[in-house]
Amino acid sequence: MTIPHLRQFTASLARTVRSSWPLQSQQGTNGFGAIPPLVAGSRYIEWTVRCSGQPDHSGYLVNITRIDEAVRAWAAAWPAAIESVACMRSLADSCASAALPPLIGLSLRVSPQHIYHWDPAMPEQLNLQVSFEFSASHRLALPGRSDAENHALFGKCSNPNGHGHNYRLDVVVATDPSVPNAVAMLERVVDREVMSRLDHKHLNLDCPEFAQLNPSVEHIALVCRNLLQTPLRAAGLDLVSVTVWETAKTCATVQAAV
Ligand code: NI
Repeated sequence: MTIPHLRQFTASLARTVRSSWPLQSQQGTNGFGAIPPLVAGSRYIEWTVRCSGQPDHSGYLVNITRIDEAVRAWAAAWPAAIESVACMRSLADSCASAALPPLIGLSLRVSPQHIYHWDPAMPEQLNLQVSFEFSASHRLALPGRSDAENHALFGKCSNPNGHGHNYRLDVVVATDPSVPNAVAMLERVVDREVMSRLDHKHLNLDCPEFAQLNPSVEHIALVCRNLLQTPLRAAGLDLVSVTVWETAKTCATVQAAV
């Protein structure tokens, strides 16, 4: 029996394949550890394959074991640096050869803080996402409004003495092979332009950027974008986007200014 509302729909599916690198064996399963188990001289990485299409009658867009097999078969033969456009294009070709559904993205996590993203719609570009953390306090309040008015707008977030968050800042830049030590360069710029200004500060009281700007997570992301874009460009790095996580449940993203 056909269920009418399930007849046709599009879904995207993401599958992360855990692996040690270099990948020296096809043994093991896609469990909690790497495959093969980490040994001296190898490191743990994660490949994430995102594809999109219409699931069939089984409810599957694709059997995820086919993604695992395609990535592992390709990885076993890939000879060169993995943080590259050539690597991503090669993996994309292998996914196509394995007749996986249309690819909408590949990601390579090389550390808890560093992820490379590749979009088949922009095949010559490899983006690097680096995550940072800072702690700050703030008070959500509009200048010129009374405490009662601000409480009506922002509830307990307008507590006059403020409250704190451990923020996460994800900065995405387009990599450029001609820029040596891009990761170190990015980290230096973020440390100088954002961390030195915002970390361990009361945003409303200590930071001129928020003297007249309500420090919502959206505004914090905007300020970080504005602080970073020009200095990153001077360092040879093109900013793509900035995401600020206020909690594990709440984040805001601002794209680079055109
Ligand atoms: Ni808050």
